[in-house]
Amino acid sequence: MASLNAIAKKLVASGKGILAADESEGTIAKRFALIGLPVTLETRRDYREMLFRSTEAMTDYISGVILTEETLEQKAKDGTPFRELFNATDVIPGIKVDRGALPMPGSKDEKITEGLDGLRQRLAHYAKLGAGFAKWRGVIAITSYAPSRNGIRANAHALARYAMYCQEAGIVPVVEPEVLADGEPGDHSIQRCEDVTGETLEAVFKELRLAGVDLSGMLLKPNMVTPGLRSRDRVSTEEVAQRTVETLRRFVPAAVPGIAFLSGGQSDEEATAHLSAMNQLGGLPWALTFSYGRALQTSALVTWNGEDQNVKAAQKAFTHRAKMNALAALGQYKPELDLAA
Ligand code: 13P
Repeated sequence: MASLNAIAKKLVASGKGILAADESEGTIAKRFALIGLPVTLETRRDYREMLFRSTEAMTDYISGVILTEETLEQKAKDGTPFRELFNATDVIPGIKVDRGALPMPGSKDEKITEGLDGLRQRLAHYAKLGAGFAKWRGVIAITSYAPSRNGIRANAHALARYAMYCQEAGIVPVVEPEVLADGEPGDHSIQRCEDVTGETLEAVFKELRLAGVDLSGMLLKPNMVTPGLRSRDRVSTEEVAQRTVETLRRFVPAAVPGIAFLSGGQSDEEATAHLSAMNQLGGLPWALTFSYGRALQTSALVTWNGEDQNVKAAQKAFTHRAKMNALAALGQYKPELDLAA
């Protein structure tokens, strides 16, 4: 069996990144609403099959895919298990194991992620099915009340417990503390995002160390440091890159092999340009790549539109986006490449 460090390094191999396709039923319903498509077992399968059969993207630019439990066990329309498609393109299947974020007791505006009960048994099952890595997302909201120190601490603690269970099962934990980008404009400047992201990462690594997590056998999946999505502040690509990398340098130990960002509601091009600008800074102790959901999928979803006849065009759109992000992981993306597409 490959070591945790070997799996983690393969996931952040040069010029590759992760496709997050682990939308819960509620989240995929929001995405399908964009194209007015009803959510059924079949529509979810057909949509994801379109992505997973994008052979060029999956072979050249994608190292791993985060799945839901449903997809990990699912078969393509012709009966081929999805897992066989991943084997054929040397993509590592991963699994989202948290059970979602629920309102935190005794707290205003905050959530705590659930799913630790029974996790050891579930992970043993996922390992048998071939999952090489897992994901757990804790969410930290920015409001006039939040986050509180207790909210950050509780989420950091849950992430550390989850990470230990994963490593015990031989599965690489992707640790995702997401500072949400949807705060009220007055609450959510880039400075506030930087402060909250720093405080969160500090708490997360404190808990990971306390729990005894092997930092060389995990990946971090953070937000970038940006103004809130509704903020009127306009900041340059370089400022986002610099502030994000400075914050990570302050709080993320060099023993962590890689950092794979979430896109968090950024436009496709922004998410790509920010990642590329960070990699252009050079001299980084960890690999920096993508683990995007929306910023990898939206153009493909809209092109597909729920119709078989659009599968090829949708795969082309997905492959283009994956390629742009793969270039960004090398610091080689240029906006002109998107204009030319
Ligand atoms: P987005 O890139 O759409 O933010 O999703 C990534 C993810 O996995 C969130 O948990």
